[in-house]
Amino acid sequence: MKNRPIGIFDSGIGGLTVVKEVMRQLPSEDIIYFGDTARVPYGIKSNETVIRFSIENILFLLKSNVKLICVACNTVSSVALPVIKNHFKVPIVGVISPGAREAVYASQNKRIGVIGTRATIRSCAYENEIKGLEPAAVVKVQACPLFVPLVEEGWFEGGVVRSIAEAYLAPLKASRVDTVILGCTHYPLLKPVIKKVMGDNTVLIDSAKQVATEVKEILASEGLLNKQGRGKQKFYVSDNPEWFTSIAGRFLGKDVKNVNKATV
Ligand code: DGL
Repeated sequence: MKNRPIGIFDSGIGGLTVVKEVMRQLPSEDIIYFGDTARVPYGIKSNETVIRFSIENILFLLKSNVKLICVACNTVSSVALPVIKNHFKVPIVGVISPGAREAVYASQNKRIGVIGTRATIRSCAYENEIKGLEPAAVVKVQACPLFVPLVEEGWFEGGVVRSIAEAYLAPLKASRVDTVILGCTHYPLLKPVIKKVMGDNTVLIDSAKQVATEVKEILASEGLLNKQGRGKQKFYVSDNPEWFTSIAGRFLGKDVKNVNKATV
């Protein structure tokens, strides 16, 4: 049981930011990653479609006998997870609760900003979770749809990125939030520009880091931690493995080989 891999999936490539953290915190675990590159982006799709895609992705990972599934995608975690989670026996962990918990803990003035895709923001998932933990919290949300294509194009800094970040983040600054949840797989790569715009005193919550910690805690509590494994990774995508391979290093911090194409 302990030797079985952890399954991680995302709408595309961004979930590699979560793989990176899981590899850092759980170096002995084997990981199977699935990126739905044929159907990305999820962030602009309807809830019904995101739920259907998510079920298919989970069924794909279950074929590899995974011991736990980590949903790297904030959109899936917000929109689909609450609906489908209890229909599977395997533990399924999303990014919302860990990120919200950490934000409530980190915020001094209990004024918290959340940025994400349109679907994540529309779902109010982070907002509800934060309010459940801290009813007096003020939550200011902002969809930042242009951030995903910028990151995929490798634009992390420069005048254009800075102007877009300033436009998106102005309402959060005006609301005097002291903590911002980076509620999308791609946003950790924009941390420097977001920090510059929000100011050095703003705490940025990286949901990738928090979910990796949660995965570790769940595996430990279920007696499923693999402490002796070699920590191998296998990557599957539903389209264009060449494109995925060419920019994966940007998200993972190291190059990826042997990306396989899979049909879900
Ligand atoms: N992975 C998605 C998320 O974290 C971003 C990309 C998409 O829209 O599919 O919400």
